[in-house]
Amino acid sequence: MNFQQIEFYTSFGVSSQLPGESTPEIVFSGRSNVGKSSLLNKIAGRKNLARVSSMPGKTATINFYTAAPGYFVDLPGYGYAKVAKTEKQRWAQLMEHYFHSQRDIRLVIQLVDMRHPPSADDLNMINFLIDGGYPFLIALTKSDKLTKNQQAKRLEELAGEIPCGDQVTLVPTSAQTGVGIETLREIIEDVFID
Ligand code: GTP
Ligand code: MG
Repeated sequence: MNFQQIEFYTSFGVSSQLPGESTPEIVFSGRSNVGKSSLLNKIAGRKNLARVSSMPGKTATINFYTAAPGYFVDLPGYGYAKVAKTEKQRWAQLMEHYFHSQRDIRLVIQLVDMRHPPSADDLNMINFLIDGGYPFLIALTKSDKLTKNQQAKRLEELAGEIPCGDQVTLVPTSAQTGVGIETLREIIEDVFID
């Protein structure tokens, strides 16, 4: 798979516009500011493919990228407290519509900040993925902000903090140093082939 050829395709802000798809999809999910867009950029080997911002709530739409033979799907982040109630409802409808329309979701890359225990919203999302039987792994972001010792400690703790954490693949990543990116690329290629 040629990761350098990933391109922006289209975005959807309201659920009524979002069509079902038979093309295989890799989904990036996680709370606002956790690093979804940064990770996607790093996997694609590009700096500005997906918009990155230190202001949470940057990606408010579902963004599709062509990543032959499928799509990468950057979901809008959840859990940003300052978002208006109507915005949260729009988010919920968009998610509901996305996950319940006809699609070929090969893998959900669920992002969790490696430094902290998963938030209540993270746990909701992970339980939603488990209950729905979606294939997923957890990418632990911003590993560069921890020392090697801290990383090892957090990895152990996270296995207990995440529902079914001992059975879920946990991949420490950094969009800054590139840690974990090759691992994710290999997994993505594998699930696209199947
Ligand atoms: P929303 O679009 O708001 O949902 O956020 P997002 O999850 O797409 O996060 P984004 O990629 O925009 O990154 C948020 C902030 O975290 C930015 O300031 C990034 O530079 C920073 N960041 C992302 N990944 C990493 C990482 O691996 N290491 C470090 N140190 N910072 C990171
Ligand atoms: Mg984003």
